[in-house]
Amino acid sequence: MSRDIVPERPPVYHLKEVARVCGIMGYVGPREAAPIIMDGLRRLEYRGYDSAGVAVANGSINVRKAEGKIVRLAELLDEEPLKGTVGIGHTRWATHGVPSDLNAHPHTDPTGEFVVVHNGIIENFQTLREELEAGGAVLTSQTDTEILAHLIAEEYEGDLATAVRNAVERAEGAYALVVMTKREPRKIVAVRKISPLVIGLGEGETYLASDIPALLHQTREFIIIEDDELVTLTEEGAVVETIGGEPVDRQAIHVAWDAEQAEKGGFEHFMLKEIHEQPTVITETLGGRLGEDGTTWLEDVEFDDEFAQGLETVWITACGTAYHAGLVGREVFQRVLRLPTMVEYAHEMRYADPMVKPGDLTIAISQSGETADTLAAARLAVERGSRMLALTNVVGSTLSRYADDVLYTRAGPEISVASTKAYLAMLIGQYLLALRLGVARGSIDRQRAADLALGLARLPAQVESILEDESSIANAARAIVDADDIYFIGRGLDYAVAMEGSLKLKEISYLHSEAMPAGELKHGTLALITEDVPVVVVVTQRSTYDKTISAVQEVKARGGKIIAVAYDSDTEIDKFADLVLRIPETDDLLAPVNAAVPLQLLAYHVAKLRDHDIDQPRNLAKSVTVE
Ligand code: AGP
Repeated sequence: MSRDIVPERPPVYHLKEVARVCGIMGYVGPREAAPIIMDGLRRLEYRGYDSAGVAVANGSINVRKAEGKIVRLAELLDEEPLKGTVGIGHTRWATHGVPSDLNAHPHTDPTGEFVVVHNGIIENFQTLREELEAGGAVLTSQTDTEILAHLIAEEYEGDLATAVRNAVERAEGAYALVVMTKREPRKIVAVRKISPLVIGLGEGETYLASDIPALLHQTREFIIIEDDELVTLTEEGAVVETIGGEPVDRQAIHVAWDAEQAEKGGFEHFMLKEIHEQPTVITETLGGRLGEDGTTWLEDVEFDDEFAQGLETVWITACGTAYHAGLVGREVFQRVLRLPTMVEYAHEMRYADPMVKPGDLTIAISQSGETADTLAAARLAVERGSRMLALTNVVGSTLSRYADDVLYTRAGPEISVASTKAYLAMLIGQYLLALRLGVARGSIDRQRAADLALGLARLPAQVESILEDESSIANAARAIVDADDIYFIGRGLDYAVAMEGSLKLKEISYLHSEAMPAGELKHGTLALITEDVPVVVVVTQRSTYDKTISAVQEVKARGGKIIAVAYDSDTEIDKFADLVLRIPETDDLLAPVNAAVPLQLLAYHVAKLRDHDIDQPRNLAKSVTVE
């Protein structure tokens, strides 16, 4: 089996958020731990979660946990209080295993002497699970976290930090792991790889959390734990080491943020924070699913090669931004699978008597997994005999429970109504599906599959580089902020991205905008292009470059203003464009991932200049669960 290609990990985000952050809390000191932990978890509720739990050490390890909101956990604690002054807690955003009391954290080893909470994804959890079960272990939950409790108990020989070190040596993936044992009751040990961890320093008491907002009301003095570091907490403070055991001299920082700023990780809006999480979102959505040679491992996608080989038609159905992701998917599936691929607005498809037939594959794309029209269109496809695959961001969502196959995006909770990181994760999910189906059908050769795998693995760093050049995009925003109408054009995949760019701008800046294929401009809309009318052109596709430039020249001839999204290597575009938003060159099939980012930031900065409520735009809801 080819090596799992571990995409270039984005740099450690100092105080920036990583994508999917469950809530973690820990406390050791003179006060009762449970109330402090519960208070901290409540301050992390805005992140979104589906279950919660607390463990306290007091001669033994005692756990209370429940599916649903923290209020249910609080009821449990009222009925059966937890006494003790050392404890850990967790709010879970499900990735492995549906939301349930059983899958909620904390998890213990079979003896109940070791207890863990964890944020992140253990990519080799299936292998570890099989090893443990082969050794006679009985795992009771569907989670990757429970495996860690077993490993630590296995590795324990008298020192918790050493046991944790040895256990995580065997795990691959991203994690913030927090551990207690009754054998060392006045201690908490934690280790970080990608998923964030912060330490709060008090007087004779020490706190731990996945994020600063949980602790700001307790302390302003923090130690940020970096990647591959292990920390041991006691009431005297925190000792930081590398995962290899070398001491780390990490100075505490003073955080002056207020609570609201802290929830946004220091960003002004959730939308901007979520745009900046995208490198990690790509890494996590790819994590453990892609081999160097283009081999894919898609847990919960259960169709077999025979189904893939017999497939004749692919349908994609969605709404809004998810539909725009499907526009990219259509091009990708048609090119990679050489199959007719229909992409339909769900609110249209459900009433259109579509020619869906048994044996077709219908991919329903929905961040929330609760959009009424998308659920209805998916149901219609299933009634007509289609196999239905849910591409969704919410584990246990209605769409995911209804589907034959599920491919979860791992974007984490998306707070801003305007979808950004979930959109990019939807693109990644479709590339993975195209590889899965294309390799099974033999419609893509091994070299092409390997090239795409490498291109995908490079995307996190490429998106990160775009995010570092935000100033040129803010400059372009000033150029269009007073326009009455703004047009977006492109051909093929560039048109699909133009559609998403136009929607992003509309929904948060309230400026009128429309997108169309570049070739369509001269069939009518060109009548609207006059002096200084801004036209954003996405021009990455080499095969149609000259034709797109022809449309650009049509605009320039009428005095229009051209803002281009183009590759760094494109030296021609400067002859035609008034402003160029540069993106790293990539395989044209993957270009939408990079090209979408400047358009997300363009919309954000225009809305900021217009001083709008960016995260909660007027008239809009995060999930349209009504028809
Ligand atoms: C996107 O910015 C909007 N929030 C909206 O178009 C959204 O994409 C659409 O309502 C579909 O939502 P879903 O992905 O949860 O199904």
